[in-house]
Amino acid sequence: MPHQSVAVLFGGRSVEHEVSIITAQQAMDALEVAGYKVLPVYIAKDGAWYAGRPLRELALFRDPTVKYEDLSGVHRVAVSPDRTARFLVMHPYAKRGFFKRDPELWADVFFPCLHGTFGEDGTLQGVFEMADVPYVGCGVQAAALGMDKVRSKALCKAAGIPALDCVWATRAQWQRDPLGFLKKVEGAFPYPVIVKPCSLGSSIGVKRCLDSAGLREAVDTALVLDERVLVEPALTNFREVNCSVIGPPYEASTCEMPHYKGDLLSFESKYSSGGKSGKLAGGKMSAAGMGKAAGAKAGVSAAGMASLNRTIPAPISEELTKEAQRLAVAAFEAIGGEGIARVDFLLDDNTGQLSFNEINTMPGSLAYYLWEASGVGFDQLVTKLVEGALKRNESRRGTQFAMDVNLLHPARR
Ligand SMILES: Nc1ncnc2c1ncn2[C@@H]1O[C@H](COP(=O)(O)OP(=O)(O)O)[C@@H](O)[C@H]1O
Ligand SMILES: [Mg+2]
Repeated sequence: MPHQSVAVLFGGRSVEHEVSIITAQQAMDALEVAGYKVLPVYIAKDGAWYAGRPLRELALFRDPTVKYEDLSGVHRVAVSPDRTARFLVMHPYAKRGFFKRDPELWADVFFPCLHGTFGEDGTLQGVFEMADVPYVGCGVQAAALGMDKVRSKALCKAAGIPALDCVWATRAQWQRDPLGFLKKVEGAFPYPVIVKPCSLGSSIGVKRCLDSAGLREAVDTALVLDERVLVEPALTNFREVNCSVIGPPYEASTCEMPHYKGDLLSFESKYSSGGKSGKLAGGKMSAAGMGKAAGAKAGVSAAGMASLNRTIPAPISEELTKEAQRLAVAAFEAIGGEGIARVDFLLDDNTGQLSFNEINTMPGSLAYYLWEASGVGFDQLVTKLVEGALKRNESRRGTQFAMDVNLLHPARR
């Protein structure tokens, strides 16, 4: 419902920091189109939180010399885990002093547009739960499971969703017995294999390996970026099919097929394709989609995940499309998902089999391009997400969390 204030969180302590800035700019454009008042909340790479209208400008984040707290209208803030504080409060070390509640910092709902660690993995969701504030997207458990490639695969398999087998190790296990792990992998799968950090994204640390020397190097690298690594067979003749899901009630979007050069969908293909990318098949990107975010050149494209070359709808049979949509909903349900996700599949062209690859509970650009192609405008999409968040918070109030009876009271002894 318009007139509500939505705090949009972005940046964060994550390798996907910049991607998150783009997603947030796009989401803020859409929220404003939908009539919401937007409060930008930027989480710097060191983990400090800043809030204020000037953070609405993408250009600010291209300049490494900017000191956010020195900007007029920007405050250093925090969300207190103390439920009686609720919402954003001034950080105790804020330069402009500690006010208990500044009306400018009021938010009816929190909308995290953070990808990866400390945003998409359940940690931030835990802070929101403690504070008892409405927030968009998955809860603690679903977010944590969605980030974990090993556990989300296991849950999907248990729910009857096909997924490739994998073996995995912790950093400590690898350091203790690297040869044992290499042997385990080679006993399980023939080369080529794919190595992935267990809970990262954007293809960072993902490597296709042809032999044991390559495998060793890739595992070493992955375990610098994460505490666990997984290895699975690498498909050689395959395409990728992605589908977004929102809810509950669950609803699947049109499917897409990403296109790229090389043996896997790299960080560069995802975010720096630029050009004709970002265009929907048969249409152009909406104003809400590009808006103020348009125009960046270096590094991550201003269109973020929307810049990837893709075909929408995915050029696969209607039957396979329906199957991908059914499996995407089942995967979201298997992790207990709420809000939005993009579920990614590998389509083995040798067998025609779709396999669950991963679920992203805060998809780049909120996968708005898939929803637009499904007839849901970006402004309608963010409205659905905000309303879902408010509804969930309301329904939580129906749960009793504490007992009225004091068991320590002398009269009870
Ligand atoms: N089993 C596999 N066989 C072949 N390619 C794969 C396999 N798993 C992943 N890839 C490729 O690597 C890319 C990144 O892997 P993914 O699991 O999606 O990690 P991320 O979370 O970093 O996106 C995929 O988009 C795909 O191109
Ligand atoms: Mg992926």
